Amino acid sequence: MVYQQEMKRLVELITSSNTIVAFTGAGISAESGIPTFRGKGGVWEKYDPEKVASIWSFLENPANYWEFARDFEARFFNVEPSPGHLALGELEKIGRLEAVITQNVDGLHQKAGNTRVIELHGNTAVIRCLDCGKEYTREDVFERLEIELPPRCDCGGNKLKPDAVFFGEPLPEKPLSEAMDLARKSDLMLVVGTSLVVYPAAEIPLIARSHGCHLVLINLEQTPVDDIFDIKFYTRASEVLPSVVEEVRGIL
Ligand code: OAD
Repeated sequence: MVYQQEMKRLVELITSSNTIVAFTGAGISAESGIPTFRGKGGVWEKYDPEKVASIWSFLENPANYWEFARDFEARFFNVEPSPGHLALGELEKIGRLEAVITQNVDGLHQKAGNTRVIELHGNTAVIRCLDCGKEYTREDVFERLEIELPPRCDCGGNKLKPDAVFFGEPLPEKPLSEAMDLARKSDLMLVVGTSLVVYPAAEIPLIARSHGCHLVLINLEQTPVDDIFDIKFYTRASEVLPSVVEEVRGIL
């Protein structure tokens, strides 16, 4: 079996560590049917992030974002957690996972049963009018989107923006400091499905490392910081997480 040694080491680390956190990115949702941003077939091959996901472009013309959302985020309605999400949900249930720190905005970790999910890039489920502050659900706004582009608020404003971080915006302070605190106190971090190129989020595993945390990478491709990892799996999350968690459950 491929990665047999690595699997064994990972099971040992999970059973012997005190504070375990997961740090996730788009790759863990790929097996739920949501495309990643980078890599083969990534969303940024088709769309220019400057145009569709930057705050300056949104403020100039919100239709740039909503045209993209109609294609990309419409998928968020009917998706289910992947085997990787479910395994992390199970890891929390058996008392071996303190929190999930995620860059994802799709809400799938919560759907998989994780109760402490730190969303560094926000979430697209809540949408707010930048003119009057009124809140909408994704369903509400997608109904409006069928009628007009960009969708409009009841106040007449056309700047309905999801509570997700756009390029050019700072990360929300509370989740970022919570994630940094966890990075400093964890002794095992599972890094799953992320290219580790977007900062400051990508700093989280680096901070953990500098505080002596063991780091495990589960990612299809290499990242620019692979040297910091103790164990590396270049494969799909579903190939590793479910069987490792199953094994840990058998030991506890
Ligand atoms: P990326 O799309 O940059 O990277 C996803 C990674 O997941 C790639 O390195 C793939 O090799 C890997 N991958 C794909 N399928 C996988 C699978 N089944 N199992 C394991 N790994 C898999 O996504 P992020 O790193 O999350 O930000 O991107 C970071 C940020 O860039 C996003 O939060 C978003 C984006 O622009 C904003 O929009 C602010």
